[in-house]
Amino acid sequence: DANALWGGRFEAGPSAVMEAINASVDIDKRLAGEDIAGSMAHAEMLAHCGVISSEDAASILKGLKQVRSEIGEGTFAWSRALEDVHMNVESRLKEIIGAPAGRLHTGRSRNDQVATDFRLWLRTACDRIDGALAAYQSALVEQAERHADTVMPGFTHLQTAQPVSLGHHLLCYAEAAERDRGRFADARRRMNESPLGAAALAGTAFPIDREMTARALGFDRPMANSLDAVSARDFALEALAAASIAAVNLSRFAEEIVIWTSRRFAFARLSDAWSTGSSIMPQKRNPDAAELVRAKPGRIAGSLHGLLMVVKGLPLAYSKDLQEDKAPVFQAIDDLELALAAMAGMAADLTFDTANLEAAAGEAYSDATDLADWLVRELGMPFRDAHHVAGSAVKAAEAKGLPLSQLPLGDYQTIEPRIDDRLYSVLSARASMESRTSYGGTAPVRVKEQVARWRKRLEGQ
Ligand code: ARG
Repeated sequence: DANALWGGRFEAGPSAVMEAINASVDIDKRLAGEDIAGSMAHAEMLAHCGVISSEDAASILKGLKQVRSEIGEGTFAWSRALEDVHMNVESRLKEIIGAPAGRLHTGRSRNDQVATDFRLWLRTACDRIDGALAAYQSALVEQAERHADTVMPGFTHLQTAQPVSLGHHLLCYAEAAERDRGRFADARRRMNESPLGAAALAGTAFPIDREMTARALGFDRPMANSLDAVSARDFALEALAAASIAAVNLSRFAEEIVIWTSRRFAFARLSDAWSTGSSIMPQKRNPDAAELVRAKPGRIAGSLHGLLMVVKGLPLAYSKDLQEDKAPVFQAIDDLELALAAMAGMAADLTFDTANLEAAAGEAYSDATDLADWLVRELGMPFRDAHHVAGSAVKAAEAKGLPLSQLPLGDYQTIEPRIDDRLYSVLSARASMESRTSYGGTAPVRVKEQVARWRKRLEGQ
């Protein structure tokens, strides 16, 4: 038995494998809400333009509302034989209202319909992700405020470099999240054009009003080229690119949580709520959530690459290949939302061992730059010479197993006779952090200004 919606020229139904490879409903039923909204806007427009009667439009709207509640209540019977969400909805509409259902598809095709549904879905996802990024930023800012004065070792090459404020370190991730928000906002702005009414690929001879459906669905305008409307998927690629970059940014903090909570570092601790145990080692507390966030870019960038390969080289306009666009997008968005929730949760949950952080900040000659800077400031030495003198002091201190702050003045004066005991005032992790007051620097006064700026930015979000 041939397909009831497109089977006019067919005598037999599809083979079982044909049906299996063709059906997308298990995945695209997530578009049901958007599909019904699109159909409602289309039906109202058709009636407004006199393409269908207002009685038929009213009956279509009533029927679509019933379909919507059946789906909402979970009583809707999804059918794989009906291929996709669009034909499932339309065929149920026909069961409910009869003949007028057949007029809904006037002047449209599943090609513009699916592009419309998908843009609507992804637009809402962008808004949710913006909110989730803002929540993650708030958790970071909260901790940054608490720890503006907490000194920790800053690293380059994962080697102790210079002391920094823990608050400063955390706000670095808030900055990255802000750029992620910008990328999603850009993607949202470009995707917010309506494909509806492009029909199969060429537009339609019916006197439709695409401005009206675009407006009804919250799009900024109808897409100007019908071929572009049904074939473009760069809007999805762009969102996946934004998601991939956001996931990569999250993975870097996730990795630091793994490092910081390791016993070797012992900078921070996650509560029981964010830790897991081992089935063999009774003592273990593992940061599984952080590790899984660290892994998410593998899946999310995988989705981006998957869809890039689907779209690559496709001739215009629509090809069924494009049906494979939904799964990677749904998976990437689901993954990113979960990762964001986990990172916001862990950012808020972390408790820091401030004494250990301060002790670590003072290790490994992290104040050597401060020594060199003092020579430049107080003795007028060129920085390159001062760097050399400070290097000799590190060498002398290392030989005696002492930090720079405990190397006797006599030893300093052997290297550079003009050094006096005022030097010692700059030789501590805290003094080092507090001295770096340049704009964007790590001094707590600067960090507190940034916290205030973030508070204002995130107000009411
Ligand atoms: N399920 C299809 C998709 O996701 C809808 C469009 C089908 N169009 C077609 N000409 N068969 O792409």
